[in-house]
Amino acid sequence: MANDEEKEAAARASLRFIQPGQVIGLGSGSTAARFIKLLGEEVRKGLRIRGIPTSVRSRELAESLGIPLTTLDECQEIAVTVDGADEVDPQLRLIKGGGGALLREKIVASATRQEIIVADASKQVATLGKFPLPVEVIRFSQALVAKKIAALGAHVELRTLSEGKPYVTDENNHILDCHFGAIQDPDKLAQQLSEMPGVVEHGLFIGMASVVLVARGNEIVELRR
Ligand code: A5P
Repeated sequence: MANDEEKEAAARASLRFIQPGQVIGLGSGSTAARFIKLLGEEVRKGLRIRGIPTSVRSRELAESLGIPLTTLDECQEIAVTVDGADEVDPQLRLIKGGGGALLREKIVASATRQEIIVADASKQVATLGKFPLPVEVIRFSQALVAKKIAALGAHVELRTLSEGKPYVTDENNHILDCHFGAIQDPDKLAQQLSEMPGVVEHGLFIGMASVVLVARGNEIVELRR
């Protein structure tokens, strides 16, 4: 089954976690976008929820579908968030941020009771790290942080747009894509990155996913922590 169909199937499977009246975190990326579209259909049929988007892009999509929105200023408790991932390991540790939204995604996840990750089968890995780990940095610090991360064993690249300019996040920062290869100790690396001045946030999501829905062919595999 193509990735696209698996993404759609995983997104659809997440709908059963949504209850009327809830505040729902709206993830970012192509799988989360499918969820937002499906949620939009439910809202059109009468489902009453409010969404908190994790990126400008997801906000614009949700607005275009007529999904009522709120903000973290108004509401600091999110019942369920549905988001994608770039990699998921057997302990439900994630790499996120391939789409550049990791900071708001992690903030929303931290305010969420049930974080549901939707993914196609290609995202399931034995060991994290084949996908380059995104690290969001304050521009002033980027060369220094890049050097420190390289000293941990990664090949570090500043994320750029096709015309060569740096990619700028929704919070006006830059992203370093850090190629570690296999990350043997994600918990330790997460700690090391969090302790580096100039790092705003990194894409290791540890202890955050409650449920991962992986679409594998025609099957939905539900993984829980
Ligand atoms: C966005 O910043 C990411 O964390 C996405 O959740 C992740 O990149 C997965 O994206 P896809 O669903 O497009 O694969």
